[in-house]
Amino acid sequence: MIGIFDSGVGGMTVAKAIEDLCPQLPLIYFGDIARSPYGSKSPEVITDCCRRNTDFLLSQGAEAVVIACNSAAATASATLRQQYSVPIIDVVAATAEKAATVTTTGKIGIIGTRATIRSQVYEQRLEAIRPGCRIVSQACPLLVPLVEEDWLDKRETKMILRRYLHPLRQQQIDTLILGCTHYPLLGGLIQERIGRRVRLIDSSAEAARHLKEFLDKNPEIGSNMADDSRQSRFFVSDSTGPVQQLADRIFGRSIHLEKIDV
Ligand code: DGL
Repeated sequence: MIGIFDSGVGGMTVAKAIEDLCPQLPLIYFGDIARSPYGSKSPEVITDCCRRNTDFLLSQGAEAVVIACNSAAATASATLRQQYSVPIIDVVAATAEKAATVTTTGKIGIIGTRATIRSQVYEQRLEAIRPGCRIVSQACPLLVPLVEEDWLDKRETKMILRRYLHPLRQQQIDTLILGCTHYPLLGGLIQERIGRRVRLIDSSAEAARHLKEFLDKNPEIGSNMADDSRQSRFFVSDSTGPVQQLADRIFGRSIHLEKIDV
């Protein structure tokens, strides 16, 4: 099984993208809703949560783990790779690679949580792939709680987005990294506000593509899983009405959320 974790429902956008690309793979998802958002927490707390999440996924039989959360990947992916022997895929590498490939002007914007922006992980990756590119980053700490509340189309959400995106508009970027797996749910509004000429790079879709490439290169891992007759399961550390609605909306079907204390 492929284990996937996030602080909440945002990682389900990654799980859905994986399901679409690799429908034969059973998934095991954990959304740490009780401790969400991660992006405003210290690196120590985020790393601790990531260890607990990984232990849980492995205890359920995960043979590879996808960190479907930019805040977690930016903060703890190196530690997790040192401490666990299973393959660990994260959202950042593939997303940075894609942005560096598609930009024509080299002016790239990044929006994410405080933890992701503070880590400068995207700046480091982009600079390594495309030296000299100009990067404008903006932390958007209010967006994850708005998404988790299912406030996707509210006037207040549009106003907050306008405020966050204003500095990026002024810098005339041609590419914008959605550096948080909750943000694809606001993709339409973000595109409207930033302008049609700016190409959005969705870290959820890129993470799924990266996982598929990894499994294609390591067929022994993927083929074991393809024979796995277990069903995908979705666990959360807390569950509320808006979370259930969002999960159902992301997958376009009713998702059974199992509450568990990890
Ligand atoms: N989806 C997570 C991310 O990609 C949200 C982080 C949070 O909980 O702050 O960063």
